[in-house]
Amino acid sequence: MFVLGIETTCDETAVAVVEDGIHIRSNVIVSQAALHRSFGGVYPEIAAREHLDLLIPTIEQALQQASVTKKEIGLIAVAKGPGLIGPLLVGLNGAKTLSVAWNIPFIGVNHVEAHLYAAMMSHESFLFPALGVVISGGHTFLVKIVDVGHYELIGTTVDDAIGEAFDKVATLLGLPYPGGPEIEKLAQEGNPERFPFKAGKVKHHPWDFSFSGLKTSVLYAIKGQNGSKESRVLISEEDKKDVAASFQEAALGDICHKTAAASATFDCQAIYIGGGVSQNKHLREMLQAKNLPCSIYWPQKELCLDNGAMIAGLGFHLFHQTGKGDPLELEPQTRISLTKS
Ligand code: KG4
Ligand code: ZN
Repeated sequence: MFVLGIETTCDETAVAVVEDGIHIRSNVIVSQAALHRSFGGVYPEIAAREHLDLLIPTIEQALQQASVTKKEIGLIAVAKGPGLIGPLLVGLNGAKTLSVAWNIPFIGVNHVEAHLYAAMMSHESFLFPALGVVISGGHTFLVKIVDVGHYELIGTTVDDAIGEAFDKVATLLGLPYPGGPEIEKLAQEGNPERFPFKAGKVKHHPWDFSFSGLKTSVLYAIKGQNGSKESRVLISEEDKKDVAASFQEAALGDICHKTAAASATFDCQAIYIGGGVSQNKHLREMLQAKNLPCSIYWPQKELCLDNGAMIAGLGFHLFHQTGKGDPLELEPQTRISLTKS
């Protein structure tokens, strides 16, 4: 079965054609990052308008690259949330319209679940129970994966998502959006032990994450004790490298530590990691160095960031589990929990 996957939760207009949940026939990603750069983050209204202009041409491009005609598509999968309401409405209404016009079902999928599925794609079989780690610009989750589509929440962030913390620290250092890759690059030349930064601990919730205190420590290191976002930078270009390296070490160290501990505590047979921050090479080295007894699965490069292939892949499985698509009444959900029975 060919599934058309549509992703418009944030600032990527992405469409893919995937065969039987795993074979990627095309995966077109149009990033709007350059458009939002001057705002230091995603400007929701501009993102929605861009999606509106880009969606149809991106669908046409995905079909063409896959050498698949619209008549061969059996299902449309679309990210129904979590995400920005304007962008979500464009993708969901586009999927509903095509579903009526082509007379095929459509199914809404959870974008965060799809990030986990990205690490499972390209493998013919899955290992469960597994630990799922979602580390992206909008989300930070540890879950026990019981089956595709069935999760038990272990921990999440009580404030910033990890990618959001990278983006905000990058802004403080005067680096462009998205900040994650910029921090990783700068950190390569810095000393990770120079600043004693630490990620936060959440009282009575040992598996939860907190990055806002870490972000404030970085702010003070750059702009002086009690400095504000608007204050001027007080450190040299060389010091900036050490700030980037020390921040990255603290933030990724926290992810690694909790990932390793949770995989043992919850008796997991594999670890699946997804979301934009999974692109970070230093994170991969840090986790690999822990020599965990279970295998760690990372998404292929083009599946780390937001993409339509992970939406199509997960949509295929969910459709076959339930045997039906969603009704046209399906509404976008700006927030969705990952917990399912
Ligand atoms: O998964 P994604 O495309 O968006 C959401 O669903 O939120 O992830 C984007 C996030 C951004 O915050 C970006 O800075 C971060 O992933 N990111 C990285 C790296 N590449 C992307 N963070 C750290 N290191 C990287 N190499
Ligand atoms: Zn995402």
